[in-house]
Amino acid sequence: ANMGVKICCIGAGYVGGPTMAMIALKCPDIEVNVVDISKPRIAAWNSDELPIYEPGLDEVVKQCRGKNLFFSTEVERLVAEADIVFVSVNTPTKTSGLGAGKAADLTYWESAARMIADVSKSDKIVVEKSTVPVKTAEAIEKILTHNNKGINFQILSNPEFLAEGTAIEDLQKPDRVLIGGRETPEGQKAVAALKAVYAHWVPEENILTTNLWSAELSKLAANAFLAQRISSINAMSALCEATGADVSEVAYAVGKDSRIGPKFLNASVGFGGSCFQKDILNLVYICECNGLMEVANYWKQVVQINDYQKTRFVRRVVSSMFNTVSGKKVAILGFAFKKDTGDTRETPAIDVCHGLLGDKALLSIYDPQVTEDQIKRDLSMNKFDWDHPQHLQLQNPTSLTQQVSVVVDAYEATKGAHGICVITEWDEFKNLDYQKIYDNMVKPAFIFDGRNVLNMEELRKIGFITYSIGKPLDPWVKDLPAAAN
Ligand code: NAI
Repeated sequence: ANMGVKICCIGAGYVGGPTMAMIALKCPDIEVNVVDISKPRIAAWNSDELPIYEPGLDEVVKQCRGKNLFFSTEVERLVAEADIVFVSVNTPTKTSGLGAGKAADLTYWESAARMIADVSKSDKIVVEKSTVPVKTAEAIEKILTHNNKGINFQILSNPEFLAEGTAIEDLQKPDRVLIGGRETPEGQKAVAALKAVYAHWVPEENILTTNLWSAELSKLAANAFLAQRISSINAMSALCEATGADVSEVAYAVGKDSRIGPKFLNASVGFGGSCFQKDILNLVYICECNGLMEVANYWKQVVQINDYQKTRFVRRVVSSMFNTVSGKKVAILGFAFKKDTGDTRETPAIDVCHGLLGDKALLSIYDPQVTEDQIKRDLSMNKFDWDHPQHLQLQNPTSLTQQVSVVVDAYEATKGAHGICVITEWDEFKNLDYQKIYDNMVKPAFIFDGRNVLNMEELRKIGFITYSIGKPLDPWVKDLPAAAN
């Protein structure tokens, strides 16, 4: 029924690239074009080195690229030719003006919408794929119809629920696909057209349809709930350390309750990624705008606990190492915000590194998927600036160059170090030769596991002084006068 349908997606990022590749794979009868204003990004999508690392993505792209999947910078032409236009541009937190530090910056979205309005010569379905504030569709509708040329635009909200690191699996078998549309006959027709695309591979009962505002809010709500679970278990981890309980045992016991469930209950140094903090701050802002201060404060606390957890980790590191890390080499294992991605947006590693640098540590950083350039850029940016290319005037204080080195493996990072911080749960960190690492470190040798992935008993046998989030404290750490809490 979709024969001849043409899709164009504006924004070839972490969301636009993989989602469109999956649609192309599952719908050979649909032509899918992914466009972006960034020339290097499009060039990378057309090369053997895709711009993002995501398990399984290479295979999917290779299978479809040049057949029914195309990456291009010819934004206007391909938008004009499309029947369905997905908009998957970035929606960062505003850094200045009204709502700075909270509200979503819709600059990129608005310019995409204006461009669609200007170049369109035929009716289009415009799909919000980006995460946007509730009621954005209404504003977009106004922009699309501003110079009414007799073209019918139907706007749909189709938020994306994939998680980086498992994007391909998530897209193959989504828990649900959510489509929101206007409750008019034309709106419902558009909903049906998009539903028909997903129905190529997603069972009907997993394709939910709602009104526009429910779909927009559901995405913010889902991210807020997910982040809230992490902040809840992280808050418990501080209490576990204070009382001698073990957060893994607590999480297991709590998660066995079928009403709660076992997933997403791992205590850690804190959540990261481009979405959780930004989307919650955005939710908080919307609540404030609607005069719902109690609701705003409730969700704000999820972000505050996350900041607290990162600070607490740094304090624990510094206080354990005799209250100073000045001039000491500290190895940072992992920089990405989670394993199986090279994405560093809002990674807790940035805050941990800043904390340690503030105490004059010398950092030696290793991550299997993040380049030296990226790490140095991340450490020299201001909060929230990472997604605002126009702000990227990097201060590159010489102290950064002197205090930070980025190396190509964990053994080099830890050589001659006083302490090790595990910040990302990469599988390879579980299987390192820790005896060899210990032998090459300054004694006493410390290891701080920010992800609870290492076998602490084994490490203690080797001779390490250990700390893991939310676990009974090593007597060494516990007896320090300046215990971090
Ligand atoms: P991204 O930054 O990787 O990709 C956005 C792309 O849009 C960039 O390549 C940029 O050059 C391009 N772009 C911006 N303005 C444009 C314009 N006017 N015309 C053409 N291209 C333009 O961002 P990402 O991670 O893909 O996120 C996109 C949206 O999806 C955000 O709203 C995000 O909140 C949401 N989202 C992200 C998820 C993730 O895991 N990264 C998951 C679910 C939703």
